[in-house]
Amino acid sequence: MAKPLSILFVSSEVVPFAKTGGLADVSAALPQVVREAGHDIRIMMPKFAAVSDRKFKIHDIKRLTDMPIQLGEKTMLGSVKSSFLTNIKTKVQVYFLSNDDLYCRPDLYVDPKTKESWPDNDDRFIFFCRGVLRTMLLLGWKPDIIHLNDWQTGLIAALLKTEYANEPLFKNTKVVFTVHNAAYQGIFPKSSFEKTGLPDKTFKEQGLEFHGKMNLLKAGLMYADHITTVSPTYAKEIRSSKEYGFGLEGVFKRKARKTSGILNGMDTAVWDPSSDKMIAKTYTKDSLEKKLENKKALCEQFKLPFDPEIPVIGIVSRLADQKGFDLIEEKLADIMKLDLQIVVLGSGEKKYEDLFKKGAKKYKKKMGAHIGFDEELAHLIEAGSDMFLMPSKYEPCGLNQMYSLRYGTLPIVRATGGLADSVDDLDEKPKSGTGFVFKDYKAKQMLDAIKRALKAFDDRKVWEAAMVRAMKKDNSWDVSAKKYIELYKKLLKKK
Ligand code: ADP
Ligand code: GLC
Repeated sequence: MAKPLSILFVSSEVVPFAKTGGLADVSAALPQVVREAGHDIRIMMPKFAAVSDRKFKIHDIKRLTDMPIQLGEKTMLGSVKSSFLTNIKTKVQVYFLSNDDLYCRPDLYVDPKTKESWPDNDDRFIFFCRGVLRTMLLLGWKPDIIHLNDWQTGLIAALLKTEYANEPLFKNTKVVFTVHNAAYQGIFPKSSFEKTGLPDKTFKEQGLEFHGKMNLLKAGLMYADHITTVSPTYAKEIRSSKEYGFGLEGVFKRKARKTSGILNGMDTAVWDPSSDKMIAKTYTKDSLEKKLENKKALCEQFKLPFDPEIPVIGIVSRLADQKGFDLIEEKLADIMKLDLQIVVLGSGEKKYEDLFKKGAKKYKKKMGAHIGFDEELAHLIEAGSDMFLMPSKYEPCGLNQMYSLRYGTLPIVRATGGLADSVDDLDEKPKSGTGFVFKDYKAKQMLDAIKRALKAFDDRKVWEAAMVRAMKKDNSWDVSAKKYIELYKKLLKKK
């Protein structure tokens, strides 16, 4: 084998330590597959309150205790702790940057009381980014690649290409910046820029500036050696219009030649209906009848009457505008007239929490809602539902539709981003279809797709054939991780 690469993977959330969405799943699964391929990949994230020392056997790194880190005029102390991600085959080292004042809070990004971002998120992530580079220097570990993810890490790219431009340790280091969601940009007032320690010209001339403010996603885009997004369709969408690029579409367009769309994979060890310990009964494509036991358990959990003939539609999601719940709101009464049941697990914006809570009250026998975050219930919903609904306005990749496919739960999705890249419409492609896809962001089209799904469900033979096809689809990380490794190697060859 050629020389193994050393890669630092930086992300603000990683399963099982801290998670708000798919970024955490990706940040655990991809590094493990890259490690299995023989490379030295290590992860770094903030030590949030959820990262319990005891639960995760976290230990201190003595020489990285109380490191002074500059935050504008202030010097603050950060300590690095460490643990491992372990699965059967590999062990990946994880570094945590700890500062209790900044990170030890009941939620990662948002104050649960106000549902607003923490007012000092600029400090929290400037400190994190400076702390990551400080850690590398003190460790004397030379990464060939620093792989950054989303706005929380964007400043690292800018620091490397300015303040650290002549630092021997990073002389040959290349930076990959992955955009998981262009809607979250880390925008702060210009006064926050002073705290980054970056030279003045990086604001205006080369571009952290965004309508007079500082934009940390843009920092990543402007200074990375290569940009990736999490699906090929999303890579095109973000440069196509404001709806997808959220004001950065021009930058995405200019960077098109440096950008690639690599579809996420899924963790097939965690999401496997044949061995899942969180579901009522394990099953495979050859024992589909056992899936019904999960449907029964699911109905019980949501206090819905169980009827094998009535399809259950599952939803597991952050309740955010991105996910298309206003379409459901618009057509809820019509949906509830159909012969189906819906179970929802999610938390987020109050208007959507209320929508589903009220819906469950009003349509007692047809709708169940659980507001909160519940890993175990998410697995049971995947296993017990017949269909899975994701009517997203935009979806950079989406993981739940992949989990659904693997559990034989046919997805009903809008053709956007990773949903378009991973689900084929059964009516359009009767021999290879794995779900139901609607094109425009219109409530009527979503309702029609649901109706088409119900119709197909009535034909057991057609339905089971589609289930088997869906379950056979390979959405593992193997293919996509290879693409990342190829990209890393290609970048290192460039001068
Ligand atoms: P996003 O990252 O935009 O939220 P993804 O589909 O990529 O969307 O990933 C969502 C991940 O978060 C999935 O693993 C899903 O199961 C999980 N998830 C979302 N909401 C909840 C919830 N309320 N309870 C448990 N898991 C959830
Ligand atoms: C983001 C996107 C989601 C994607 C996930 C992981 O949170 O909203 O579509 O699957 O990141 O890349």
